[in-house]
Amino acid sequence: MPPLSHLRPASLNRFWFGAAYYPEHWDANTRAADPARMAAAGFNMVRMAEFAWNLIEPSEGHYDFTLFDEAIQQLGAQGIHTLLCTPTATPPRWLTLKHPEIAAMNENGLCMEHGSRQHVCHANPVFRSYSRAITRAMADHYRANPYVAGWQTDNELHCHFSECHCPSCQHAFQDFLRLKFKGDITALNTAWGTTFWAQTYDDFTAIPTPKNNRPTFSNPAHQLDYARFVARVVAQFQHDQVVTLRETNPRWFITHNGCMKHVDYRGEFGQDLDVLGYDCYPMFCTDPAERQASQAYQLDAVRAWSGNFMIPEHQSGPGGQQPYFQDHPEPGELRKMTYVSIAHGADSLLYFRWRTCRFGAEEYWCGILDHDNVPRRRYDEVSQVGTELKRIGPELAGTYVHVDVAIAGADLDQDQAYPTLSFGLPSHSDMAAAIHGVWYRKGYATGVIHPTDDLSSLKLYIIPHWVVFNPDWVPLLETFVRNGGTLVIGARTATRDQNNNVVPETLPGCLRELAGVTIEEYGRQNQPQARPLAFSLKGKTVTTDFWYESLKLEGDTKTLAKWSSRHLKGQPALSIRKLGKGSVVYVGTYMTRSVASSLLPVLAQQAGLKPLWPSAPTGVEIVLRQNDNQKLWFLINHNEKAISLKSPPRGIDLITGKRVPAVLHLKARDLAIIKQELR
Ligand code: GAL
Repeated sequence: MPPLSHLRPASLNRFWFGAAYYPEHWDANTRAADPARMAAAGFNMVRMAEFAWNLIEPSEGHYDFTLFDEAIQQLGAQGIHTLLCTPTATPPRWLTLKHPEIAAMNENGLCMEHGSRQHVCHANPVFRSYSRAITRAMADHYRANPYVAGWQTDNELHCHFSECHCPSCQHAFQDFLRLKFKGDITALNTAWGTTFWAQTYDDFTAIPTPKNNRPTFSNPAHQLDYARFVARVVAQFQHDQVVTLRETNPRWFITHNGCMKHVDYRGEFGQDLDVLGYDCYPMFCTDPAERQASQAYQLDAVRAWSGNFMIPEHQSGPGGQQPYFQDHPEPGELRKMTYVSIAHGADSLLYFRWRTCRFGAEEYWCGILDHDNVPRRRYDEVSQVGTELKRIGPELAGTYVHVDVAIAGADLDQDQAYPTLSFGLPSHSDMAAAIHGVWYRKGYATGVIHPTDDLSSLKLYIIPHWVVFNPDWVPLLETFVRNGGTLVIGARTATRDQNNNVVPETLPGCLRELAGVTIEEYGRQNQPQARPLAFSLKGKTVTTDFWYESLKLEGDTKTLAKWSSRHLKGQPALSIRKLGKGSVVYVGTYMTRSVASSLLPVLAQQAGLKPLWPSAPTGVEIVLRQNDNQKLWFLINHNEKAISLKSPPRGIDLITGKRVPAVLHLKARDLAIIKQELR
């Protein structure tokens, strides 16, 4: 398999389209009528069984596949394949009664009770053996079923619960540390700085997980290694299942639906998958004015882990759970959200869910069909997409999303280090979303990319406040700059080492030389209104928030902006260093929306950047998917009114099948996908 990269298309042999399906919730007549109606909507796949362990293994060692055999057969007869799931997110009651020790335990020492989901521990050896057994039984049973195309492991691992502190985890954590530090307890004591508050350990067996029952804060190095341990456990848990599935039938593809915390989708967890899955629920962003940018950012951030992805669950209606009920997608919105997901890298897409269930914790989480099984406008929109994708799906195969400006993302260490010392500041990903939004709203081809990924096609690369910085990345960034790229480094980057300890060098640590600056002083802006700070950039005053740094320039580095207020007045706030064909900009504050907006024209000019289709009207999103053979221009009208676009890209509109006219008219919430052949 090609390495994980934002440029990697999904290795799926067609565009899978359909929904999550729960035959266990419906009677035989309703089930029998479903496949034809799904086929009429253009489905070629449903996902099943992720919560059905109790039905498949009603008592220990006794398996009953009748329901799913029948459903798979009836669906198959209509040309619909199945994505099966290992059902380990909901262990049955007989198992939790027989083995209460498999219960997960939270940071307050409370055991999770049966009655919802994700209530057991992934490190527990007893549960691990049951997980292997149910995977083996299902894999063996469906080994040769022609309609089973692939598998999803478990369901949204860590969606509700990830930090387990049960007795199994105490032992497993100690084993993890013993391995990491090669049995050398002194190495651990040094790495963790255990001389602070007399934490020195004489033996690995003496080390507890960092639970909450401490009078005050625990050691950040201890916390970060625990978070890495949690990520390792879930990867190993999944690996057991992957091994069984792969050895049973190597033709199956394997996915998992993320993206949740403490899971390394770019590391061992993601490398075990053929394609990463992402469950896309744009309505979680409750502000319609922010929703479009939020969906785009989420999708771009997902693509950063491993490349194009599939969407095993895509919102198809309003979601309602105990404390909330989201907006109902208005007419045209469901189709539009679907194409936004496809434009940003979805290579297959299943909706959540086929029909709204009448019972259980999610009895108001709406699917394509309502409780009463009457097809209404959501079904019509899905069917329209299904019909269109029969033509468009094959065109998408092998294309990747074009990016000119990227923000650094997809780094588990960053995500895990942030909460250990947040200082009440926004996270690196909050800031990435803000910066992404600024460029995206102006029509630039914006993405999210990890520093170890291929940066060669980028013009601008922005690292927002990545505190734990790996020195191995510095030469990669230097090459990017020398070859003509513009690199932007935000305040506080490279201030801590891999152990989450503060670096010994003058800040910004391993980036000092590349940036050509050192930090003279830094501080938190707790009440920015009370003591306002600002810098002046190209004659404009820009007020800052959260954090300031005053810079000392080294060598031929120049001042890009100076602080203009209080004790910082006159000191450099932003710097620029020319290096090779490119340059490095250091920003001595947080890149809030207003700071990022003020920087945009300066950086665009510096990097020679233009919006993807400069003449696009406001509210029309342009995304380009391409490969060596063709370009696919997505032009998505987010306006609630029709628009006209003069001189659109020339080619065939895959939605209408016609050549694009000189002036393209798009109805409210409608889109065009223009294909240009390159050879
Ligand atoms: C996902 C989950 C589904 C369902 C859905 C709606 O997070 O995988 O099982 O719960 O959200 O809440």
